[in-house]
Amino acid sequence: MNKPIGIFDSGLGGLTVLKVLAKKFPEESFCYLGDIARLPYGNKSPETIRRYGLQILKFLKEQNVKAMIIACNSASTVFLGENEFEGIPLLNVIEPGSAAAIAASVDHKIGVLGTSATVRSHAYRDTLLKMAPEAQVIEQACPLLVPLVEEGMVNDPITELVARRYLQQMIEQQVSTIILGCTHYPVIRNDLKKVLGDKVSLVESGDVLAQKLATLFDQGVLARQSGNRQIRVCITDLTDHFERLAHQLMHPEPIGQLERVVL
Ligand code: DGL
Repeated sequence: MNKPIGIFDSGLGGLTVLKVLAKKFPEESFCYLGDIARLPYGNKSPETIRRYGLQILKFLKEQNVKAMIIACNSASTVFLGENEFEGIPLLNVIEPGSAAAIAASVDHKIGVLGTSATVRSHAYRDTLLKMAPEAQVIEQACPLLVPLVEEGMVNDPITELVARRYLQQMIEQQVSTIILGCTHYPVIRNDLKKVLGDKVSLVESGDVLAQKLATLFDQGVLARQSGNRQIRVCITDLTDHFERLAHQLMHPEPIGQLERVVL
């Protein structure tokens, strides 16, 4: 029987991950859960984020998923080192993102951009240092970037100005690679590139998860699906704004009507 891959995020930012995976694996079905009703997670405590996360993993299990991906960086920090949930493979974005950043940078001068919760947890820094003890890691919380993306301020001088402030220290320290440690940041990759120039590589969760999933398929850990694919986007609150934003973020990948669910 065909089973979907479950993906969860605090809101719609994780659609940046779903979009990459849907394109890379055109046969696979996906079930996405965006916890819009309780967004943002980035300013909440680890205990609260974990409580929300466990409810969502239970929801995804009920949808009969074959694997679960925590696309939300803030949520990934509280499930670090956990590779399964009740027998179902569980992936987070921190470990594959860190490995990709180390592979991408020769000098291992790595910057991490994230929400306050992600930066406060030091999950990326600790994982990077475990993988490459000589790495130099600079972390920066960027709380203003999520609302700017939610308001659609993409390729916008205000976003560029805010990004410039947040990136200043990393530019001074000449980092060579930056992990976009938040689901929303790939949407403003051009604004970030304008500030950083072309020499700094950006690591995005969608790409690293696509590689990780490809390995799991090749190793036979996950069975490939063939046949009619289905992409479900479920959210815990629904407004016209979110409906529009979801279609914009997934464009040109078609998604059906968003489903409102109660956890
Ligand atoms: N999805 C969150 C993350 O990747 C960003 C939005 C939020 O703060 O909930 O950390």
